[in-house]
Amino acid sequence: MATTITILGATGYTALELIKILLRHPNTEITALTSREDTRSVELVHPSLSGRLNLSLENLSPKEIAAQSECVFSCLPHIASAKIVPELLSYGTRVIDLSADYRLSAADIFETWYAEKHPDPDRLGKVPYGLPELFRDQIVKTNLVANPGCYPTSAILPLVPLIKTGMIEPEDIIIDSKSGISGAGRKPKLTTLYPECNENISAYNIGTHRHTPEIEQIITAASGKKTTVLFTPHLTPMDRGILSTIYSKPIQPVTTNELLEILRDFYRDEPFVKIVEHLPSTKDVSGTNFVHITVRVVGNKVITVSAIDNLIKGASGAAVQNFNLMFNYLETTALI
Ligand SMILES: NC(=O)c1ccc[n+]([C@@H]2O[C@H](COP(=O)([O-])OP(=O)(O)OC[C@H]3O[C@@H](n4cnc5c(N)ncnc54)[C@H](OP(=O)(O)O)[C@@H]3O)[C@@H](O)[C@H]2O)c1
Repeated sequence: MATTITILGATGYTALELIKILLRHPNTEITALTSREDTRSVELVHPSLSGRLNLSLENLSPKEIAAQSECVFSCLPHIASAKIVPELLSYGTRVIDLSADYRLSAADIFETWYAEKHPDPDRLGKVPYGLPELFRDQIVKTNLVANPGCYPTSAILPLVPLIKTGMIEPEDIIIDSKSGISGAGRKPKLTTLYPECNENISAYNIGTHRHTPEIEQIITAASGKKTTVLFTPHLTPMDRGILSTIYSKPIQPVTTNELLEILRDFYRDEPFVKIVEHLPSTKDVSGTNFVHITVRVVGNKVITVSAIDNLIKGASGAAVQNFNLMFNYLETTALI
């Protein structure tokens, strides 16, 4: 029997990637796709799905969604997601939330960074953070998972092993990240118009990007002491991909080869983390659920570089990886 699935916010980019992955999944059936206003066939909304999925978009209530789905993937913006998730859970439907709504551990932190009241504050701090490489034990038994942000995935995966093994100082970490334009979603905005972003690179939200507290929360837990990071995101003229170059200080003298070995050892059994000796680039992982990571020691600095596809390992691929764990399917199903 296939697991029945509804995707919320089906007109968007992450939803399109989810649909493509789930169409390859032997144990799932997509039963509904939602939109607030669009009622067209999904083939018209996303022409790359032509002839592959015969469904039209619908504006459904949580009760109607729960009646036809054992699992819901929420591809809605933050706040919108947390307005619907509690009711879905109350009907016994399990939810994978791609928005930021359940990632932070406390409502006051959420409200500081997102400048809005959280619709479901009591659940914060109780929802597993959906990075299987670090929180698999919690994910397998949850009804709701907080799928990580794309930048945090690219920063946390290289940093946590080096912090946990006492190789780098958890202080003075600088994360310099570059993202493709799809990271901003499909809804048009000035900064994502072609003449604005083509042949152009720009930094944005220095010191204020909402992924900062998410990274700090996981780094703090790994180091055991309150940690802040300097995170500078950049918008780059490519459709998809994130490259993060991360600068930190070694605690004691160490070589590149020793750090490569520590990373290899930490992720030895992880199907989607590849520790590479060459410098990773976004095209190496485009369209895949893999993250490529390397490290160099230069003078008294440790430099790690990671590459992911923001829409796959940074969103929909990770969501299916979490789904596979929650529903006891092989973790790599539809992803390799
Ligand atoms: N893009 C990425 O790389 C990425 C990576 C990780 C996580 N995420 C997160 O994943 C979620 C989806 O991202 P996306 O890039 O797919 O966004 P998107 O392309 O903008 O799609 C979001 C969809 O949500 C629906 N929506 C928008 N505002 C809504 C509201 N107020 N209430 C209900 N529905 C609303 C829209 O559908 P209708 O207008 O048709 O209703 C829209 O198609 C976001 O929370 C985002 O932060 C994105």
